[in-house]
Amino acid sequence: MKRILLLCAAGAAVAAFPAVAKDAATAEFEKFRDVLEADNPAELFEMKGEELWKTKRGPNNASLEKCDLGLGPGVVKGAYVQMPRYFADVGKVMDAERRIVYCMVSLQGFKAEDIARQPFSSQTHTPDQTAIVTYVAGQSRNMKFAVPMNRPEMRETYEIGKEIAAFRAGPYDFACNSCHGEDGKRIRMQELSNISTHEGASKSVQGWPGYRMTGGVMLTLQWRMTDCFRQQRFPEPKYLSDTITALITYMSANAQGSLYKGPGIKR
Ligand code: HEC
Repeated sequence: MKRILLLCAAGAAVAAFPAVAKDAATAEFEKFRDVLEADNPAELFEMKGEELWKTKRGPNNASLEKCDLGLGPGVVKGAYVQMPRYFADVGKVMDAERRIVYCMVSLQGFKAEDIARQPFSSQTHTPDQTAIVTYVAGQSRNMKFAVPMNRPEMRETYEIGKEIAAFRAGPYDFACNSCHGEDGKRIRMQELSNISTHEGASKSVQGWPGYRMTGGVMLTLQWRMTDCFRQQRFPEPKYLSDTITALITYMSANAQGSLYKGPGIKR
């Protein structure tokens, strides 16, 4: 018996229902995306991010070229697909965006509170870290997800992420898994990936950071997570919280071994 999940989003009734087949609209969008990805607007943000990475900035007038993304100071190639990872210097598991902001604060002297004030893109403003994440992600294009799960801290963080994904609460008693815990669910026209499977998790982390055609903004996986908490009617976690790192760890580890094609396009 297929379940129909009724939910309210922004006051409007929306139905999530199992997909019968990939419908015409999805097929059309995918065609459009293929065309666009050949000339991907995300590349402009990669270029901007590279410049920001290499430029001496901030109160300390330093570049990010000493930033250690896990493969040694300044090594960017392949770093994105190997995060989240455990960083011994801070004793924490960090995802890419969190680590980049950590470097902006510790090396360049920017203030975490200032960065957190407007952490995600709007139509008029792209935060520096969004462009930098896009640059770093682009340097892992066509590499496989290889999150270092051999660390006990990573396994613990994974388990926390898994629990958060299943945790139901809020006015609708939703968990991430209410929308992303089974194959073939959709809301309006959008397919909802099943983050608990290798295939679904791969889709979920693929294409992030992504250029969103609606609004024409560049957005990161941190944004996606925060926005899904909003959809779930949960209080939004603080920017760069442990909660979001745990969810990203859970999804990235489930996507282990799949090919990362680089920053993408979202509708
Ligand atoms: C009320 C339903 C709902 C809940 C609950 C929800 N999401 Fe989502 N999620 C969505 C929708 C809708 C999208 C957008 C799909 C699209 O644009 O194709 C989405 C997109 C995503 C994506 C991007 C998928 C992709 O293909 O790029 C990820 C990852 C994700 N959600 C994870 C989560 C996590 C983790 C949670 C729990 C914190 C969560 N979601 C809670 C509805 C939900």
